[in-house]
Amino acid sequence: MRLKHTVVLFLLLPLSVWGSSFKPAPAWLKTAAFYQIYPQSFKDTDGDGIGDINGIISKLDYLKWLGIDAIWMNPCFESSYQDAGYDVTDFYHVAKRYGTNDDLKRLFREAHKRNMRVCLDLVAGHTSIDHPWFKASQSATRNELSDRYIWTNDSTVKPERHISGKFGRNGTYRKNFFDCQPALNYGFGVPDPAQPWQLPVTAEGPQRTRKELINIIDFWMIMGCDGFRVDMAPSLIKNDPDRVETDKLWAEIRNHFQAKFPEGILIAEWGNPARAIKAGFMMDFIIHLGNNGYSSLFFNKVGTYRHDTCYFSFEGNGTPTKFVDYYLEQLKNVGDSGYLCVPTANHDFQRPNCGTRNDDAQLRTVSTFLMTIPGVPLFYYGDEIGMKFIDGLPSKEGSLLTKGNRAGSRTPMQWDGSEGAGFSTTGQDKYYLPIDDSSYRPNVETQMANPSSLLHFNRRLLQLRKQYPALGTRGGIRFLYAEANKYPFVYERTANGQRFIIVINPSGKAVKAECSFSGAAKEFKPVLVDRTSLKLVKDKLQINTDGVSYGIFMVN
Ligand code: NOJ
Repeated sequence: MRLKHTVVLFLLLPLSVWGSSFKPAPAWLKTAAFYQIYPQSFKDTDGDGIGDINGIISKLDYLKWLGIDAIWMNPCFESSYQDAGYDVTDFYHVAKRYGTNDDLKRLFREAHKRNMRVCLDLVAGHTSIDHPWFKASQSATRNELSDRYIWTNDSTVKPERHISGKFGRNGTYRKNFFDCQPALNYGFGVPDPAQPWQLPVTAEGPQRTRKELINIIDFWMIMGCDGFRVDMAPSLIKNDPDRVETDKLWAEIRNHFQAKFPEGILIAEWGNPARAIKAGFMMDFIIHLGNNGYSSLFFNKVGTYRHDTCYFSFEGNGTPTKFVDYYLEQLKNVGDSGYLCVPTANHDFQRPNCGTRNDDAQLRTVSTFLMTIPGVPLFYYGDEIGMKFIDGLPSKEGSLLTKGNRAGSRTPMQWDGSEGAGFSTTGQDKYYLPIDDSSYRPNVETQMANPSSLLHFNRRLLQLRKQYPALGTRGGIRFLYAEANKYPFVYERTANGQRFIIVINPSGKAVKAECSFSGAAKEFKPVLVDRTSLKLVKDKLQINTDGVSYGIFMVN
């Protein structure tokens, strides 16, 4: 009798509970530091002005030195480049301009030799309009790819986000992002019976698309890759209230994936870690997507997305509370079931060095913050040396959005002080995008030779995270002073009996603050400090900061 009840209960369990029964994420993720590579702009070895896989291999030792454990590379597959590689024309081949599948295999091997991992970008929601699948699906004659994309059954039927054109078949197709990116058909969560072209997820076409996605995943994993960042992860199933079917799809993939590749990882581009992890991802980003406070910390008057004020500004007219509230809520909801990541930037929005936030001290306040909060750390290529978001560039490979241009974050990596910054052997006129032309532009070689450079500072931050679990990916955080429209920003990190206080003043004004402090503190030992100090007076912590300053203190 009892068994019968248990079985019934088991069958009635909602998916959210299934979600929590995923096998844990691989242990390596807990201490990993990530680095994102935009392959076009990292290092060119064949002189075509576009970065390549061999270039990445040639810089693995540098990344290892910096303290990087895992790379996520933007799409490197055959593409029409109307969206910088997010419009794939062949999921099974590395684009010629980056090299060959064998080169990528070698990258995996060379990374593994150094105990590093490589994650690819999985564009799961759409292809290029030039993909052979899309060409076949346009045919008037039914074939096995007819349902690979979402088509209406009449070219005069054009719901929102549907595109018409000259096709053999009678219909319009659903786009996923740009018009040139037709949505792959994983079916509709709740198909509209009045629109018979809306297939349920269980229909043959959507099920075949799902199998193909699993094939792509398996193909690269078997070749040696270590996981994927999944582009637009929540977008796969259409009309899916509460994303019930989307959750089931990702749960199926996660279970399959972990059974076959126990050390592999799945990272979402969802922009809501708690939600993404419930669906089956192991990590997700807090970035510009959604109303989460990321932009209120970092987006100023220059950049892809522009705001009048932000917290990390010399003017000191921003507020940290929106981010703090969202972040704490996310940490609580994610718990131990996965990881969140607050990256320095990515290929879709501006870098820390942007507009009036442009000097070394300011960039140190940003890194100190991002590298000492819980979550997986990630440097977007070039941010470790403080490369600048370049304003006013032409649109390149679909970089221009209605809101702004993403090209400013996609310029060639600055390796040395030579005219072309050591990015390529070819002339700058052939470079993928123009290089930062400021005379004082930062570069790796010069900063490596200077122990007090931003590069060494960022390396030190990554070392501290590894040395002290209290500063690492897990471990507690409590905001001691994070007040609306006020500076500085003070929080405490704890783990294994260790306790740290971190003070950040991104504003140009010297400020003092006071907050309550419980527990003993014989000493606030400076670990990495610039012009900030702490003093305990009775049960009050007195914080003193100069303009644009930071401090990491160990409480003894
Ligand atoms: C998100 C990617 O980060 C972005 O670069 C791309 O344009 C869209 N997804 C569409 O794939």
